[in-house]
Amino acid sequence: MTAAATATLRAAPSPAAAAPPVPRRRPEPPAVHADVAATALLQVQGVSLEYRTPEHVVRATHQVSFDVHQAERFVLLGPSGCGKSTLLKAIAGFIPPAEGQIHLDGRRVQGPGPDRIVVFQEFDQLPPWKTVKQNVMFPLLASRTLGRRDAEDRALHWLDRVGLSRFADVHPHQLSGGMKQRVAIARALAMQPRVLLMDEPFAALDALTRRRMQEELLALWEELRFTLLFVTHSIEEALVVGSRIALLSPHPGRMRAEINSHGFDLASQGSPEFQATAQRIHHLLFDAPPHGADGDHPQ
Ligand SMILES: Nc1ncnc2c1ncn2[C@@H]1O[C@H](COP(=O)(O)OP(=O)(O)OP(=O)(O)O)[C@@H](O)[C@H]1O
Ligand SMILES: [Mg+2]
Repeated sequence: MTAAATATLRAAPSPAAAAPPVPRRRPEPPAVHADVAATALLQVQGVSLEYRTPEHVVRATHQVSFDVHQAERFVLLGPSGCGKSTLLKAIAGFIPPAEGQIHLDGRRVQGPGPDRIVVFQEFDQLPPWKTVKQNVMFPLLASRTLGRRDAEDRALHWLDRVGLSRFADVHPHQLSGGMKQRVAIARALAMQPRVLLMDEPFAALDALTRRRMQEELLALWEELRFTLLFVTHSIEEALVVGSRIALLSPHPGRMRAEINSHGFDLASQGSPEFQATAQRIHHLLFDAPPHGADGDHPQ
């Protein structure tokens, strides 16, 4: 971890220590896929996703399968339009699969839930009429995870973790793009999701801020070991952020390959191994023979 990465991250109790006591819940029904849940936190099995318009069915992904394990940094990498955002939305529970299944902790994903929180690319993901602190508190209150006082404590804790304590009472329009993304990350981590979903969260930032944010995200992960599913179309970002990378073919997205990238970090950028792996990914993404699938077809 670099000095810059640690500079904005204060010493603080672990999220488990910061968390309130877990309320007793009624026992869950038996898991449908208890056998696979023992190994994978998130299971995406043969998932095809479609958008239906009056004239067309647009197939965004075709029979995509992958597993994400606890504390992995799993990256979905592919060209624009290959269905990365659509996959993330399906995992978040916003889009039902046309084919296949998604399981989290052995339970089928059938809608959104506080166990999956998404950080988007857009800076306007923070309601502008709420202060920074209120933005972080909002999902905690809306999901009834915490009462107001505990939610405020938790929000201040996470704002401190991303170096924004001084900005708790300002409104989002007073923040830079990088600061807004830090608020979105604080808001997501405050919910302590089973998996943190990030859809090109740094793509709209300038190169220096983007690198800094990558450092900070990795520093947070180093300490907290949350499970991350990160979408990007940058090969370099995938290698730096990911411990494993799924390569998706152009539209409609299919699994092309999986690459182990846990040996790379920001410091290895530019090394011969890093460059060679980036080249290999480039060939796999763009030079592989076309599969001939027609993504869109009439209704
Ligand atoms: N609301 C929609 N209605 C119809 N088609 C859509 C809709 N949203 C996305 N699509 C189509 O689904 C396909 C996948 O889109 P998606 O946004 O998931 O791609 P992506 O990989 O995230 O691309 P990018 O890197 O540009 O964000 C594209 O062909 C896109 O045109
Ligand atoms: Mg997208």
